Amino acid sequence: MNKIGTQTIETERLILRRFTVEDAEDMYNNWASDPVVTEFLTWPPHASVEVTRSLLTDWVTKYEDGGYFNWAIELKENGQVIGNISVVHLKESVDGADMGYCMSHSYWGRGIMPEALKAVMDYLFDKADLNRIAACHDADNPKSGRVMDKAGMKVEGVFRMAGRNTRGICDEVWHAMLRSDRA
Ligand SMILES: CC(C)(COP(=O)(O)OP(=O)(O)OC[C@H]1O[C@@H](n2cnc3c(N)ncnc32)[C@H](O)[C@@H]1OP(=O)(O)O)[C@@H](O)C(=O)NCCC(=O)NCCS
Repeated sequence: MNKIGTQTIETERLILRRFTVEDAEDMYNNWASDPVVTEFLTWPPHASVEVTRSLLTDWVTKYEDGGYFNWAIELKENGQVIGNISVVHLKESVDGADMGYCMSHSYWGRGIMPEALKAVMDYLFDKADLNRIAACHDADNPKSGRVMDKAGMKVEGVFRMAGRNTRGICDEVWHAMLRSDRA
């Protein structure tokens, strides 16, 4: 792989860029404090913007590492940071990455996350030189599976009772795409 880290990516509606600590208010207000967003995630809603600021302070230091991939999703139409997409597990030995993402529920249903995921996958295949990109979702959260489908991933299988999120133990549905799957 090519350890180029998190560089800015532009799409039709989005700027995918590094977080700064100044994004704390947008992140807290738009998604990190919202139990609707965190229902199927591994972390509970942030109790205060200080929790968000402290997390961002930690994330920002990690950008020096070329193996760290974590983008803020900024919407061009209003300049708001509305979500996050990142590599949650880098598997260097197989040139692979597992992805995670979440977004303000005010913007759901506009195809924004598929647009972000597709752009990030192109970046990881073409610029970071990865070969395999995967993601999983709680079987009770099929809307996340739709994002993976729309970005070109295929279902590989269900790992029963293999995950834990804020609701408890869950079945994980795994999806993936190889570089050679692309047209
Ligand atoms: C999953 C998520 C990223 C989807 O992003 P998005 O930009 O809304 O994606 P899409 O617009 O393509 O919608 C995907 C599916 O969500 C569902 N959906 C759309 N709008 C919705 C809404 N307002 N409420 C509930 N579900 C909705 C639909 O099933 C849609 O599929 P369809 O287009 O085939 O009908 C977003 O819902 C989210 O952030 N959820 C909370 C965090 C999360 O679950 N992350 C993934 C963990 S694996």
